Amino acid sequence: MENQTTLSPSTPGTPPSPASIMQIGTGFWASKVLLTAVNLELFTHLARQKGQSAQEIKTLFQLKCTDRHLYDFLDSLVGFGFLNREGLLATARYSNSLDTDTFLDKAKPSYIGGMLEMLDNRLYGFWGNLQDGLETGHAQNEVKNGDAPVFEALYNDPVRLKGFVNAMTGMQIGNFMALAQAFDFSKYKTFLDAGGSAGVLSLMVARHQPHMTCTTLDLPPVEPIAQGTIEQYQLSDRVKAVSGDFFKDDFPPADVISMGNILHDWDEDHKIQLLQKAYDALPAGGAFIAIEAVIDDERKQNVFGMMMSLNMLIETGNGFDYTFSDFNRWATQVGFKSTSAISLTGPSSAVIAYK
Ligand SMILES: C[S@@+](CC[C@H](N)C(=O)[O-])C[C@H]1O[C@@H](n2cnc3c(N)ncnc32)[C@H](O)[C@@H]1O
Repeated sequence: MENQTTLSPSTPGTPPSPASIMQIGTGFWASKVLLTAVNLELFTHLARQKGQSAQEIKTLFQLKCTDRHLYDFLDSLVGFGFLNREGLLATARYSNSLDTDTFLDKAKPSYIGGMLEMLDNRLYGFWGNLQDGLETGHAQNEVKNGDAPVFEALYNDPVRLKGFVNAMTGMQIGNFMALAQAFDFSKYKTFLDAGGSAGVLSLMVARHQPHMTCTTLDLPPVEPIAQGTIEQYQLSDRVKAVSGDFFKDDFPPADVISMGNILHDWDEDHKIQLLQKAYDALPAGGAFIAIEAVIDDERKQNVFGMMMSLNMLIETGNGFDYTFSDFNRWATQVGFKSTSAISLTGPSSAVIAYK
C-alpha cells in the first residue's frame, strides 16, 4: 500500500518550478493520445503488420489529418515508449514496443485494453463533469441522463455489458494472478468470488491452487459471460458460475470469500452490510479478501486510490475507496478477529479479514 503514484513537486530550498503543474494540467493530452491509439486498434494492427509507415497507417485507418499531425500522433507514442520507430517522418517505420505488443494486441489473451476502451468511451466524457460531481455529490455517468443505476443501465445493453466486463478484467487480471499465488490457500478448500464479473479471479485461484474449488457469483446477465470464460480456460470441473444478488441472496458456503472492487462501489453502510454478510457465511478461521486500490493510511502516496475514489463519485455518487485502517475498523465492527494486507500490482492491494 506504499505504492508511489505521486509526482515530486519542487524540493524545499530549490526555486519553484511550474513543471509538475503543467505536466498534470496537460495530462489528459497524453492519456487521450494513448486511448485514441487503443480505440483505433493501432497496436493490434501493428502486432500483425510490423514496421508500418505513417502512410500505410493513414490509409488503413482512413485518417484525413495532415501528415504532420499524423507524425505528431505516432511520434508522441514513440516518446511515451509505446511504439518503436526506425527512420524519421516519411521514412519512419513503426512497430509496437514489448509492452504494447503484449498488453494492447486484442488478439492476445494478455490484452488489458478493455479498461482503456471504457476510459475513452465513457469515463473521459464523464470526468469532464468532475466539478459538477463535487458540487452536487451526484453521479456523473449514464445515471445523470435519467438512466437506471449504473449496473442496470450498463446491463440493459449487451454491448455495454461486455465492454464493462472486459474493462473490469483488464483492470484486475494482474492483481488476480498475484493474489492467487501470494495468499496462503493451503488451509482452505472452497472459494467464493462475490461480484466476480467474468470469473477470472476464480479461474486464477483454480489454476494456481489445484486443491481449490471455486464459485463466481454475479448478477444474472453476467453469468453466461462467466460461463464462457470458464469453458475457455477448461476449468469447469472446479469453477462454477452462479447468479445472485449479494445484498438479497444467501452466499453459497465457502472457506474464503472475496470481493474485487466491490466495496468501493457503495457507501459505508452498504460496505459494512457486505462485510457482515461475508462474516456470517464464513466458517471459523475463514477469510474475507477485498482487492482494491487501498489508500495508504496517511493519504499521501496512493494518489491512484484517491482518484479511483473520485471515479466512484462519478460512477455511483456515494461509493468511495478507503484505507487499510478503515477496512480494519469495519472488519472489527462486524466481528472479524484479525486483518492483514498483501501488496498486489501497482497501486492495488488485498486486504484480508480472518473470522
Ligand atoms: C466494479 S465491478 C468488479 C468486478 C470484479 N470483481 C473485479 O474485481 O474486477 C462490480 C461487480 O459487482 C457486480 N454486482 C453489482 N451489484 C451486484 C449485486 N447486487 N449482486 C451481485 N453482483 C453485483 C457487478 O455486476 C460487477 O460485476
